[in-house]
Amino acid sequence: MAEPVRNRWAEWLLERRHGGDPEDLKSTLDFLIPVRDRVLRNAALTGGEILLDVGAGDGLVAFGALEIVGEGGRVHFSDISQDLLDHSRSLARQMGVLDRCEFVHASADDLSALEDAFLDVVTTRSVLIYVKDKQRAFEEFHRVLKPGGRLSIFEPINNFTYPEPPHLFGGSDVTPMADLAERVKAVYASRQPPEESPMLDFDERALFDLAERAGFEEIHLSYEAKTKPGNLEVDARDWETALRSAPNPFAPTLGQALVEALTSEEKERFVAHLRPLVETGKRRSRDAVAYLWTVKREEAS
Ligand SMILES: C[S@@+](CC[C@H](N)C(=O)[O-])C[C@H]1O[C@@H](n2cnc3c(N)ncnc32)[C@H](O)[C@@H]1O
Repeated sequence: MAEPVRNRWAEWLLERRHGGDPEDLKSTLDFLIPVRDRVLRNAALTGGEILLDVGAGDGLVAFGALEIVGEGGRVHFSDISQDLLDHSRSLARQMGVLDRCEFVHASADDLSALEDAFLDVVTTRSVLIYVKDKQRAFEEFHRVLKPGGRLSIFEPINNFTYPEPPHLFGGSDVTPMADLAERVKAVYASRQPPEESPMLDFDERALFDLAERAGFEEIHLSYEAKTKPGNLEVDARDWETALRSAPNPFAPTLGQALVEALTSEEKERFVAHLRPLVETGKRRSRDAVAYLWTVKREEAS
């Protein structure tokens, strides 16, 4: 079982997330880089420190951290995907920073490969959303941190947007096609039943409580929710790219979902309606995210 899961993560992060389109990847990074910078700022990371990035993926946060910790610091990349760890290792080699990196094949909720209390900072971005046992993950973060060590997290809060009302599909108004849209949405739901999905079983308050129960005492939470009309600059997507894209590694691409849900005549009608909305960025975005940062208590004297 482990092999397909690993490959699925690498395939999604390196390809299906942005439909293999460099333009789409660029807009993903335009969104992600400020998020990464904020996670690192909240961690108050400084030169010479040792950081663990949990679910490091292709190294967005970890490589950013390497620049800050400098020559005297170290960064541990952990992930459940060996393929992504190998990818990051080869990037680190190309960048000439391999001697300051460690790669750990581990799940966020089982960091037993790492000793207790040796890290200055733990970061994680958009990983807990895929982890079933979030409490255990927080306990592991607490265990591996030194007293006085910091944890800094970013997670999307998907249950703010779920379920989408019947007249919307990915934020686009599909009122005249709501029946077809529901059938396409049912394909996504069949792959990730909402009642079992770790992507929907928490909100910002739950993150706060999880941190507190794991033993963190000083906890900061910043929750941001917004909705806004789309615009051509930011939200327009090439249709072929949209068809090749999937919102997460467990979901089908839009193209696959359309084929699975609709007859070819229905698909033609649905696409005739949806495509111009996607291509012109005419959609209403609605999302919520949480940043949480906290400190492990200094040892009592
Ligand atoms: C959305 S990506 C985020 C990657 C990276 N943190 C970033 O900021 O770009 C989610 C990452 O979490 C990893 N992942 C998924 N489930 C995990 C788990 N249980 N433990 C550790 N990593 C996990 C995936 O392999 C993937 O690299």
